[in-house]
Amino acid sequence: MLRDLGHMAIADNGNGKKWQASAPEPFGPYYLHELINKGGLAEIWTATDEEGHHFALRMMHGNHKNGLFKKSKEVKSFMNGCDILQKVHDHPYIIDYIKHGSLKKTPYLLMDYVEGNNLKQLIGRHDSILAEFLGNILIDMAEALDHLHDAGFMHLDFKPENVLVTRNGDIRLCDFDLARKRPDKPVPLDSNAGTAAYMAPEQLMMEPLDHRADIWSFGVTAYEILTFRKPFDGNSQDEVLRKQLDPKHPIIPPRDLNDDIPISLQNIIMKCLQRDPDKRYIVTTQMVKELQKALYV
Ligand SMILES: Nc1ncnc2c1ncn2[C@@H]1O[C@H](COP(=O)(O)OP(=O)(O)OP(=O)(O)O)[C@@H](O)[C@H]1O
Ligand SMILES: [Mg+2]
Repeated sequence: MLRDLGHMAIADNGNGKKWQASAPEPFGPYYLHELINKGGLAEIWTATDEEGHHFALRMMHGNHKNGLFKKSKEVKSFMNGCDILQKVHDHPYIIDYIKHGSLKKTPYLLMDYVEGNNLKQLIGRHDSILAEFLGNILIDMAEALDHLHDAGFMHLDFKPENVLVTRNGDIRLCDFDLARKRPDKPVPLDSNAGTAAYMAPEQLMMEPLDHRADIWSFGVTAYEILTFRKPFDGNSQDEVLRKQLDPKHPIIPPRDLNDDIPISLQNIIMKCLQRDPDKRYIVTTQMVKELQKALYV
């Protein structure tokens, strides 16, 4: 909960730790309080506006002080993510978009602040919230993807780090930097950016792909939530790809690792993880329906 103190704010950041900023850094009309995350491209800050409203602000970091941002590939990717989020955010399981633009020559995205953790953190510590809200988390993630696909886009970077989980087990899909328009038929992309362990074989190989690449990534994420292991792991894209493409490297069925998993749920995950995209779900809505049935919602 936020205690509103004008330009100062004290809130619980979801780890039981209070964040407090006595001297927040001004950024245009906003005040940056605590750095939540620093990634390759961007920083995420807790932020307030002049009325003391509470947000998360994602801003590019790096070379803006030297005026090097210009129209780089990274800026285009950041702005592309903001544009797509603006079009698709009207959904309960997608991070709420407020606005985006550039301030002090720095591209930024203002969004709702989610108190909680990302799914990678929860999986890393085998957090009991995962078992408690398992059905919700799986179905809601699938619904977020279904909404995105229905709206004509694919995410292409679906992974636990890009799924935020509130303390009530509600999820918010974020980070749309790599998202693209969903093609009518599979098309090759000019890059295979992403995190290898979650990327579909066709995405890693830079072969034609469509929204079914997200269905694969969903399968990897669901597998990991249920077993705390990845179906294909490796330190490099090459190693992951070798395992993905080698039929002698079979996927261990999730029930071999956790026999609490219903067979129907295992079947759904194995269908998502078909190396041939034609053998996966064709439409994400079908996957949502089968998950609902398997999880008795
Ligand atoms: N709106 C938000 N509210 C709370 N935390 C957030 C929010 N957005 C992002 N985060 C935190 O910051 C992390 C990174 O967010 P995001 O994926 O948007 O940035 P990123 O630039 O891709 O980071 P990386 O380069 O590390 O992948 C998330 O996993 C989450 O922990
Ligand atoms: Mg990310």
